Amino acid sequence: MLYPLSILSILLLALIHLTNGHSPHGHSPKKVQRVLSTPDNASIPLSTRAYWMRKANAALGELASPCPFAAFGTVIVNHTDVSGDGLGKLICMGVNSRTTTGNPISHGEIAAINNCTQILTDVNGPYKLSGSSAIAAFASLSLYTNAESCPMCASAIRWSGFKEYIFGTTIETLVDQGWGQIDISSKEVFEESLGLGTATSYLGGILTNETDPYFAWQFDTDSPCPVGCERASAGSSCAAS
Ligand SMILES: *[C@@H]1O[C@H](CO)[C@@H](O)[C@H](O)[C@H]1NC(C)=O
Ligand SMILES: *[C@@H]1O[C@H](CO)[C@@H](O)[C@H](O)[C@H]1NC(C)=O
Ligand SMILES: *[C@@H]1O[C@H](CO)[C@@H](O)[C@H](O)[C@H]1NC(C)=O
Ligand SMILES: *[C@@H]1O[C@H](CO)[C@@H](O)[C@H](O)[C@H]1NC(C)=O
Ligand SMILES: [Zn+2]
Repeated sequence: MLYPLSILSILLLALIHLTNGHSPHGHSPKKVQRVLSTPDNASIPLSTRAYWMRKANAALGELASPCPFAAFGTVIVNHTDVSGDGLGKLICMGVNSRTTTGNPISHGEIAAINNCTQILTDVNGPYKLSGSSAIAAFASLSLYTNAESCPMCASAIRWSGFKEYIFGTTIETLVDQGWGQIDISSKEVFEESLGLGTATSYLGGILTNETDPYFAWQFDTDSPCPVGCERASAGSSCAAS
């Protein structure tokens, strides 16, 4: 058995050598592309980021409850519109609505993207955009989500061509807290998606002191409930108070 196996190894080594050593440009073009763009922090201060991250948390209370079990909230903002308070304009929001809709992929980010599409293309709404104009509009919008996107949502964000992606609690923290996750960071998805030809700025770990508590109580009965909620008795779930 040894003899044919070593022949196979030699063939394999030769193949590896051929594919590695003789790439047409002598370097890996993919590695050259793997630079994530981060937002221009000067034009949008951290206090504005915090303002919208709090809105992503608050979307839970507006659309579901202040402490739903799947406490994932998203807001989508037009930062080019600085009319009014100068913080940017809310286009739409969404929260994880799997159990209320029966749609297993209705994560907060997907719900918000669907909602924005509906709002932007509504013939009776404020925007009245055609489908292709709505798609183009995403390139000028920023998505804020209170937890790092799963690979499905990170991919959806990249396919949407958002201008910016800003998240709070990291996937690492979610996993530590006991949440089941597909263990691919959104950074990895972003790095592998540069071939799409669109850029989405990446800004993570914003206001985690306020987002983390939304995900800490579900698997740890000693964790305090989010603001507006309490445990009816020791060890029970958080519910609106
Ligand atoms: C913006 O700030 C974040 C951290 O708050 C940093 O990681 C990033 O590099 C900054 N971006 C630029 C362009 O300086
Ligand atoms: C964002 O705001 C700018 C400036 O007001 C405006 O020109 C643009 O149409 C807005 N985008 C969307 C999708 O509303
Ligand atoms: C869509 O976003 C709007 C504006 O933020 C909000 O009023 C509405 O409740 C959202 N709809 C859904 C289904 O989440
Ligand atoms: C969370 O941290 C920010 C600074 O990053 C601070 O402004 C804010 O007050 C803190 N939130 C709470 C609830 O302590
Ligand atoms: Zn997701």
